[in-house]
Amino acid sequence: MRVLKKYVIHGGKPLYGKVEISGAKNAAVGIIPAALLVQGSCRIENIPQISDVTLMLNILQELGANVRTINRSTVEVDASAICNRPVSYQAGRKIRASYYLLGALLGRFGQAEVPLPGGCDFGGRPIDQHIKGLTALGADVEVKNGFMCAKAKTGRLKGTQIYLDVVTVGATMNLMLAATLAEGMTVIENAAKEPHIVDLANFLNSMGAEISGAGTDVIKIRGVDRLKGGEYSIIPDQIEAGTYMAAVAATGGEIRVNNIIPKHMECITAKLVEMGVKVEEEGDSLIVTRHGPLQRTNIKTMPYPGFPTDMQPQIAAVLCLAEGTSVLTEGVWDNRYRYTEEFRRLGAKIQVDGKIAIIEGVRQLTGAPMEACDLRAGAAMIIAGLAAQGVSEISNVKHIERGYEDIIGKLTGLGADIRVVEVPDPEGQVSAAG
Ligand code: EPU
Repeated sequence: MRVLKKYVIHGGKPLYGKVEISGAKNAAVGIIPAALLVQGSCRIENIPQISDVTLMLNILQELGANVRTINRSTVEVDASAICNRPVSYQAGRKIRASYYLLGALLGRFGQAEVPLPGGCDFGGRPIDQHIKGLTALGADVEVKNGFMCAKAKTGRLKGTQIYLDVVTVGATMNLMLAATLAEGMTVIENAAKEPHIVDLANFLNSMGAEISGAGTDVIKIRGVDRLKGGEYSIIPDQIEAGTYMAAVAATGGEIRVNNIIPKHMECITAKLVEMGVKVEEEGDSLIVTRHGPLQRTNIKTMPYPGFPTDMQPQIAAVLCLAEGTSVLTEGVWDNRYRYTEEFRRLGAKIQVDGKIAIIEGVRQLTGAPMEACDLRAGAAMIIAGLAAQGVSEISNVKHIERGYEDIIGKLTGLGADIRVVEVPDPEGQVSAAG
């Protein structure tokens, strides 16, 4: 009998203690495919243990890369002898980041076939900017039988100037991957500036690439003939850290969030401080305290350095408990409020109109069953459950495990009463990453 996991939370308890932040998911899922460009062994440290990373490493192995686990957060990837075969449909379609395999394989071999990506459902998730950029670099790109098929017209991509019509993390990173081994100079204008973009550039540069400007909106990539092996450590996960900060803001208490880069946290810290949360910086840690009442605020999500869309559901959970009415505006995705239906089961007062959510704070949430509809929504449901009086049960937790390393262990370490329960799957289906 197949089983499904549920998280059962007895809420209403403040959090106290310290939590170690893992490596950044959205950096790892770009850097692991980047290792396909390298002829030699790459030692990658601070890799988070999450199912999206496992899937990506499995795909590299299927392509013939030698993947060796050194310890729980370090792997060595040697893609010197990989073959350029289509990426398996079953594996590639499960994750969003599979599009990075297209840029990396096309850059390395001048040809690639990768399934159209999956990932969280926020309404439309177009990839037109990826296709536009790869086409500008000299590839023919078409979608055939569920695969993105790309081929460099002259056998090798050719550097060019690319202006992105929207600020997109995925296309910026994908085009960096594709352009690293291209002939000549590529300039990406209106590039995204997220910390994981800088991390990918740093990884590639440490292997011999020539990329400048990452972290600004103009990135220049001077193509090189080959990359050599080396060592690299992935940055800490800004969103994982922000999630624990939001958790203590919602429950009250005091936690120390270790292994963060304070600069990356500023956009999140600023809003929590406005809400009455105390945040103190100590080296690579933040001490986050909330004892008094939470104040209302307005938040709009934006590309970095704006407030991250990947923190929108978690901060909504906090706003549900703030005094007064807050306005939350989603500035990146068309439909990222599906979780609000579940929040209402806990007594939250939220009205959604298109990209705007009006949240009227309540004194108390009360526990209820919820179903995780995507990764960050699932994390937000945990936060709401921890803050609510009584018992909450969260189902469909495969979404959460795609992106949070040992979330149950880390929260119980902070004194949360949360445990995993396995229940028979009525449909007998294997739980798979969405
Ligand atoms: N967009 C286009 N055309 C494109 C690509 C994007 O119009 O070709 C639009 C999107 O529709 C969206 C905006 O541009 O409105 C931004 O999309 P982006 O490409 O930046 O998103 P992504 O690369 O698909 C990554 C993260 C998401 C995160 C977004 C925004 C990964 C694997 N995913 O997605 O992370 O929300 O950037 O920061 O890196 C998460 O971790 O929970 C998550 C969903």
